[in-house]
Amino acid sequence: MKIVANFKANHTFKSTGEYLEKIEFFLRTHKIDSQIAVFPPFTAFPCKQNSLNVKFGAQNFYPVKSGSITGEIGFEQLNEFGIDSVLIGHSERRMLLKESQDIIANKFNFAKDNNFEIIYCIGEPLEIREDGINSILEYLFSQFYGIDTNYEKLVVAYEPIWAIGTGKSAVTKEIDEVLNALKEKIKTPLLYGGSVNINNVSSIVGLKNCDGVLVGSASLDVDNFCKIIEKIDNIKK
Ligand code: 13P
Repeated sequence: MKIVANFKANHTFKSTGEYLEKIEFFLRTHKIDSQIAVFPPFTAFPCKQNSLNVKFGAQNFYPVKSGSITGEIGFEQLNEFGIDSVLIGHSERRMLLKESQDIIANKFNFAKDNNFEIIYCIGEPLEIREDGINSILEYLFSQFYGIDTNYEKLVVAYEPIWAIGTGKSAVTKEIDEVLNALKEKIKTPLLYGGSVNINNVSSIVGLKNCDGVLVGSASLDVDNFCKIIEKIDNIKK
């Protein structure tokens, strides 16, 4: 199982350091088979030097080695910290930052050419969800435009937009239906994200085609995140 914490614009360098100390202690003192990753803000990348069991990833990057791109970071800056895992296609970037599918595909190709692990996010808005499964799948598959779904370091995260940060997770049956349909076409590991918490995580990761979770709000408190890790790790499929 893969358990990923997306901090978004939460936590600082200092608080990420404290978080890491606690989670590393937890992983040292519990036998956990799952892979744990944290995607903190860039300013917390220096904390990575104290991480043994927690992988670090980048929530964003611009597809250049380096250059005149005000406010962005490129390959050189990620490489300095040994970051080799990136999130691409998150709905917050698609919607708030207006990232088009072309921009996203460009980032994907750059990350692939540089051999990054890519956690590629897809997800439908509420009006598509209400239209039924055929519309949902059509919408989700359109988000693979320009994406090489055979890339060996690709992980797909299904995050329905209406379930992100709302406390309203998709019900297990809805997640199951989508993950099964995705797995028929795409052979990569599949994560679910969207209001994952301590109460719903067992039924979600228990689904046949769920290979892990991408957790936002419920990952911010380290004790809570450790409880989620423990719960997931107890599920034997
Ligand atoms: P929440 O867990 O806060 O709904 O966020 C999910 C998410 O967007 C992870 O990338």
